[in-house]
Amino acid sequence: MSKKRVLSGIQPSGRLHIGNLVGALQNWVRLQDQYECYYFIADWHALTTRYDDTSRIKEFIKDVLVNCLAAGLDPEKATVFLQSHVLEHAELHVLLSMITPLGWLERVPTYKEKQEQITDKDLNTYGFLGYPLLQSADILVYRADYVPVGVDQVPHLEITREICRRFNNFYGETFPEPEALLTEFPKVPGTDGRKMSKSYNNCIFLSDSPQEVEHKIKTMMTDPQRIKRTDKGDPEKSPVYHLHKIFSSREEQDRIVEGCVTAGIGCIDCKKVLIKNLFAVLEPIWERRRYFMERPDTLEDIISAGSKKAGEISSETMKQVRQAMNLDGLK
Ligand code: TRP
Repeated sequence: MSKKRVLSGIQPSGRLHIGNLVGALQNWVRLQDQYECYYFIADWHALTTRYDDTSRIKEFIKDVLVNCLAAGLDPEKATVFLQSHVLEHAELHVLLSMITPLGWLERVPTYKEKQEQITDKDLNTYGFLGYPLLQSADILVYRADYVPVGVDQVPHLEITREICRRFNNFYGETFPEPEALLTEFPKVPGTDGRKMSKSYNNCIFLSDSPQEVEHKIKTMMTDPQRIKRTDKGDPEKSPVYHLHKIFSSREEQDRIVEGCVTAGIGCIDCKKVLIKNLFAVLEPIWERRRYFMERPDTLEDIISAGSKKAGEISSETMKQVRQAMNLDGLK
């Protein structure tokens, strides 16, 4: 029996942080042994909100790629590629745009939300409205079975399934209906207790040095009501504890809670344990990052080979699509 196909993408819109690591990359790595996986860097998607300044896009693409490899993606197992290297995504996108009612795109909740959130840019663009449709093309062009994403992406998967059905209705069964592969991830708090996000300036980046990570943890917020060392604390109110939940063993978490509620340990002690455990996860990543950062040719080879392999699948799909739509020549 052939393996089911998995596809997912990530935008190169900034440096990746430990939220991306536990929310996406580690999951991608787990899936690579079980499924036929395609993972790509969605550089065209990054342009939907950053069309006015592309000066850092190469740096961010490289950062995403290096972090994927550093987190354990193995190009021998999973196909890792760059969206803009596989032109079939664009061809399918234009064909799907013909059958997509505007209202479907206008009704995607992320459309209005993001437009309201991002106020420093004009997002009344054709490309931004089409964001979910480009995503649909990304998925359908590989005839993917599963799409591992966070809950925030569910509306995009829904519209992909609707477009898929509409296409199959008009032109005959061409695409399987993809399913979201929702994995429950703990929310990763940033250093200020809010969700870790580059727009909040509260991130621990995978590209941070050990010294920077240590400094960020040491100056991180804890339970605001625990002011003196002798005050008893409430771990639930401390983002440091929420990071322990992700990076520390059960036993260590229990000891941290006990120490906090009894004032048996101070916030510095608690942070030292977190630093130790976080370093245990990050050290092998830092080592592999160093390895790949020094080998730009290897990176180039990986992305070209991956894009070529992705192109084989997507061009096969496009042959079928053109046939289904009678766009396969004169005869
Ligand atoms: N929209 C996704 C995100 O922001 C990135 C993405 C683009 C994607 N194309 C995709 C994810 C296709 C899964 C499948 O996270």
